[in-house]
Amino acid sequence: MGSLRVGLVHLHHCHHNHSHNHNPSLSKSRLPLTLKSGLLVLPCSSFYSKSNRNFHRLPSASVTTTDPIKLKVRASSNSTHKTMVKGIRVHEIGGPEVLKWEDVEVGELKEGEIRVRNKAIGLNFIDIYFRTGLYKSPTIPFTPGMEAVGEVVAVGPGLTGRKVGDLVAYAGNPMGSYAEEQILPADRAVPVPPSVDPITAASVMLKGLTAHCLVRRCFKVEAGHTVLIHAAAGGVGSLLCQWANALGATVIGTVSTKEKAVQAREDGCHHVIIYKEEDFVSRVKEITAGQGVEVVYDSVGKDTFQGSLDCLKFRGHMVLFGQSSGAPDPIPVSTIAAKSLFLTRPSLMHYTITQDELLEASGELFANVASGVLRVRVNHKFLLSQAAEAQTALENRQTTGSIVLIPDASL
Ligand SMILES: NC(=O)c1ccc[n+]([C@@H]2O[C@H](COP(=O)([O-])OP(=O)(O)OC[C@H]3O[C@@H](n4cnc5c(N)ncnc54)[C@H](OP(=O)(O)O)[C@@H]3O)[C@@H](O)[C@H]2O)c1
Repeated sequence: MGSLRVGLVHLHHCHHNHSHNHNPSLSKSRLPLTLKSGLLVLPCSSFYSKSNRNFHRLPSASVTTTDPIKLKVRASSNSTHKTMVKGIRVHEIGGPEVLKWEDVEVGELKEGEIRVRNKAIGLNFIDIYFRTGLYKSPTIPFTPGMEAVGEVVAVGPGLTGRKVGDLVAYAGNPMGSYAEEQILPADRAVPVPPSVDPITAASVMLKGLTAHCLVRRCFKVEAGHTVLIHAAAGGVGSLLCQWANALGATVIGTVSTKEKAVQAREDGCHHVIIYKEEDFVSRVKEITAGQGVEVVYDSVGKDTFQGSLDCLKFRGHMVLFGQSSGAPDPIPVSTIAAKSLFLTRPSLMHYTITQDELLEASGELFANVASGVLRVRVNHKFLLSQAAEAQTALENRQTTGSIVLIPDASL
């Protein structure tokens, strides 16, 4: 065992076989999060060492199945009291410095709700959009965060189907996961399969559901397709490349650095373009012998959008799902008429509107984690109180794979 410093959390890592394998043999045992000598021991998945710039691949956790849950109402209640916990609050939009570590009121449990003590909180680019005001928070001040995994500590009046002690994950609304505890509608929280540890689950929930929405719903990737994925080493990008590869597509990924290119290749990219150094449009034309690709998954936005349209073949699909570099400029309809293109701007929340949609998508996601089709890269961990540092790293393109925040009190 060795120890690494990642973010500001000391981590242990195990020396497993680090070779890449899309179908690793899986351990059936549950791998709990444990503390040893003040060190946070992360039992599975890969992580990124800032000290040696290497990725260490550890075996994926296994999963049984995600059983659909149905929530029925009955006359019972066990908690309505207010609770104060620690969390991050934003009182004004701005830079990372507006993320303040404060006391946060959890609020009162209402019918159909659960109170959850978070074990791991996923950090996502959307958190930056809300902090900077690109997306408008419905309230100021607000607690950021749209992804977490935690233990149910109380259930609202009249709720069955959830009980104290359940481990659940959620992604999307309501915002407020940057806190030790939060209240959630019970039907937005899915059970975490017993063999997936909380940190892995918090690393894959929102980003993996997004990847599912993109390759299985917005444009169904099939064998024989050629797909272009921007920011291929990012949180969503890593999962998207692996999933598109597993579906039989030829995957072209773009990244900004040679280090990120190494990860993108490990994640199933057949071709990697370093778009800071090379013109990605001409490289895609070269790779596809002038044909172009069936689909572009573009989360970079402003800097890539026009070039992405140029990479598409006739009747190709432009799936713009983010704007890490800024919102793209508007285009006239005649631009997509030129090649009879399809243009969509999906939001994960619109693809998980019903509980059935959410359970189906998360079931498929966790099954792919179980089978090893998706290897979750938990590359960066920060204390929750250091969310500002974590967001700065994400914003400055210094991260790869997933970033998680660990509530300070749990260490
Ligand atoms: N529509 C939805 O429902 C949905 C859901 C989830 C996520 N998203 C979007 O998906 C994208 C990825 O999210 P994520 O959390 O996984 O982040 P991420 O991809 O890990 O991080 C963003 C990456 O974008 C690239 N990038 C290019 N230009 C950039 C710039 N000017 N500033 C910052 N980054 C830039 C960087 O990769 P390189 O250094 O390799 O260029 C950077 O690492 C985001 O745009 C997010 O909004 C959308």
